[in-house]
Amino acid sequence: MDKLIIRGGNRLSGTIPISGAKNAALTLIPCALLTEEPLTLRNLPRLADIDGFQHLMTQFGVSTGIRGKRPEEFGRVVTFEAAHLTSNVAPYDLVRKMRASILVLGPLLARAGEATVSLPGGCAIGNRPIDLHLKALEAFGANIELTQGYVKAMAPDGGLPGGDFDFPVVSVGATENALMTAVLANGTSRLFNAAREPEIVDLCNLLVAMGAEIEGIGSSDLTIHGVKKLNGATYKVMPDRIEAGSYACAAAITGGEVRLEGACEADMHSTNAALKSIGVEIESDKHGMTVRADGQLKATNLSTAPFPGLATDMQAQLMSLLCKAEGTSVLKETIFENRYMHVPELARMGANIETEGRTAIVKGPADLTGAEVMATDLRASMSLIIAALAAEGETQVRRIYHLDRGYERLEEKLQLAGADIERVGDE
Ligand code: UD1
Repeated sequence: MDKLIIRGGNRLSGTIPISGAKNAALTLIPCALLTEEPLTLRNLPRLADIDGFQHLMTQFGVSTGIRGKRPEEFGRVVTFEAAHLTSNVAPYDLVRKMRASILVLGPLLARAGEATVSLPGGCAIGNRPIDLHLKALEAFGANIELTQGYVKAMAPDGGLPGGDFDFPVVSVGATENALMTAVLANGTSRLFNAAREPEIVDLCNLLVAMGAEIEGIGSSDLTIHGVKKLNGATYKVMPDRIEAGSYACAAAITGGEVRLEGACEADMHSTNAALKSIGVEIESDKHGMTVRADGQLKATNLSTAPFPGLATDMQAQLMSLLCKAEGTSVLKETIFENRYMHVPELARMGANIETEGRTAIVKGPADLTGAEVMATDLRASMSLIIAALAAEGETQVRRIYHLDRGYERLEEKLQLAGADIERVGDE
């Protein structure tokens, strides 16, 4: 298994291109199931999770054609065509590798009237149920059965009537599944307390381009008037705000200056506010953002929350940055339980962090030193890389398949900005 070797201390400087957003791509791809016509997605990131999802789509008879870009370029163009669905079953072997597979449930149900999807397994960042996905589909008139580890959703004869659902907890995935179902229902559906992350807006914009009728896009109350048919479309995946935020932390922890080409400031207000409160300067224009940290980093207090609050997917990376800030910072993780698995690994690198329940107290600045560390989940892995860039000596990060799920050509991008990082095969 590959590992990454990072020798810390280089000040990052240069330009890093920002890829298409993984979490947007994972909800845009299943939209291909909603139409007989081709759906072409541009700017799809080259990631293990995207390859996995493409493979899952072939299970339903969807043809996928990769067009385009030369291997040395970032992103690619893929056309998905679901002219005839040959199956509406997502088997365990494909689903267990990727939680986002649950996002085929709604579109398969909407298009085929029936869908059977293996229940996604437990997850390293806490117990992640799918009850809200199922309750929303039930509110639209679906009949749900759970048997032998599978969820089977069925529309009544004549199709789903549609209906109203008020989310008791804001859920990105459940909002996405609900939207992809309601667009083809017979009647009107309303979602209250829906997630309004930029990736949800990206999904709504694609659905509208395909002929869907959605009101309230960008707000937490959405009204969806079902239509009989959706058409194909060509659509560009939004830039990855979490990738951009991660490289911003990487630049800042080295006291560097990095241009994040393609980053969209409008999607990043809370991350940028957090960075600014730590003393990082940010300038943005319509093509990207420049991040600079040449002064002292300051401690701050941060709490994750649904959008427009601070993304839970930025918590680990900001925590690494705060290890080098002067003073005591308090972090609160309000979205997921058990999302501090990077803490013991950061401690092995010299960080001074205490956790109690969902609160973490970070005392800085710590003298970070290189160590052998283990990646535990996607964003936790990135926090170790960020710490390693500012650590004295060499850090080896193992289990980097987590990083390959979500960061397109990570070491290449960091090398572009002058980091000393290489991927080596493990003996
Ligand atoms: C998505 C993102 C993930 C991000 C998360 C929160 C993708 C592929 N993943 O995950 O990177 O960290 O949003 O921004 O886009 N919940 C329930 N019942 C449900 C669903 C969720 O109780 O049926 C709870 C979860 O346990 C969690 C909270 O709701 O506490 C938010 O989870 P959710 O927004 O659904 O996360 P995902 O969509 O899985």
